[in-house]
Amino acid sequence: MEVIICTTAEEVADVAASKVARVCRDAGSEVVIGVATGSSPIALYERLASRVADGRLDLSHASAFALDEYVGLPAGHPESYAEIIRRHVTEPLRMDPSRVHTPNGFADDIEQAALDYEQAIVDAGGVDVQILGVGSNGHIGFNEPTSSLASRTRIKTLTEATRHDNARFFDSIDQVPHHCLTQGLGTIRAAREVVLVAQGAHKADAVAALVEGPVTSRWPGSVLQLHQHATIVVDPSAASKLELLEYYQLTYAQKPAWQRFDAR
Ligand code: F6R
Repeated sequence: MEVIICTTAEEVADVAASKVARVCRDAGSEVVIGVATGSSPIALYERLASRVADGRLDLSHASAFALDEYVGLPAGHPESYAEIIRRHVTEPLRMDPSRVHTPNGFADDIEQAALDYEQAIVDAGGVDVQILGVGSNGHIGFNEPTSSLASRTRIKTLTEATRHDNARFFDSIDQVPHHCLTQGLGTIRAAREVVLVAQGAHKADAVAALVEGPVTSRWPGSVLQLHQHATIVVDPSAASKLELLEYYQLTYAQKPAWQRFDAR
C-alpha cells in the first residue's frame, strides 16, 4: 500500500488524477475504470476531464463500472448513481455511454442484477483501475461494517450513519433509500489497481483503520491492505490520525524518479 499525504485537497485531486491517467495510458485505449460517486472523487474527475479536453487523455473507447446504486429510487432520479455518473464521469470524460455501467438498482430481480453486474465486469476483462472514496464509518463501495471481505455484488442495507452522511444530497433524510446494490469487497479487490482519495477530518478514523488497523470487516476499507497495488491519497486532515505519518511523507519525498507518475 502506498500512502501519499498531500498538502491540500487540490493536490489530492492532482496526484490521484495523475496516477489514474498513468494507468489509463499503460492499459491502452480500452482501459476499464472503476468509478465511485460521492464528493471525494469529484475534483479528480475534473482533472481527468481537463486532460480529455486538451487531448492528453482519450477515453472514447474506455469502459467504466460504478461501484454502487441505490435501491428504491425511481430510474432517472437526479441522485441515482446512474445520473451522477452521467454528470460527473460519462459526459465530462467524453466516454461512450454504452460502455459506462452502474449496477441496476431499479431491476425487479435484484439478485439477478447483481449476478449480471459481476458478469459484465468479467466480460469487460476486469477493472484496470478502481477509484474509491471511503465512508466515515470505513465503508468502501457501500460495503458497510461487517461486510464479508470476500463479498461480491449484492444488495446491502445502509447504516443510519451512511444515510445521515448522504442526506445532504436529498431534501430530507426520509428520502435516502435504506438499500443499495454494491460491488463487494471481493469485487473491489479484484481490480488491478486501486486509487482511494479522502479529504477532511471526518475521514481520519476511517483512513487510520484502513491503513494501519487490523484487516477486519469492522472497518471494510482495511481489506485494501491485502491488495497488491493500492494507492491512498489523502489531505492532512484525513491523514491526521495516522501513526506512521512521517514515514509516509518521507517515502513519498524519497520516491525514486522512475517510480514517479507524471503530475501533468
Ligand atoms: C460511492 C461510494 C462510497 C463513497 C463514500 C464516501 O460510490 O461507494 O463508498 O465513496 O461514502 O463518500 P463521500 O466521497 O461523499 O464522502
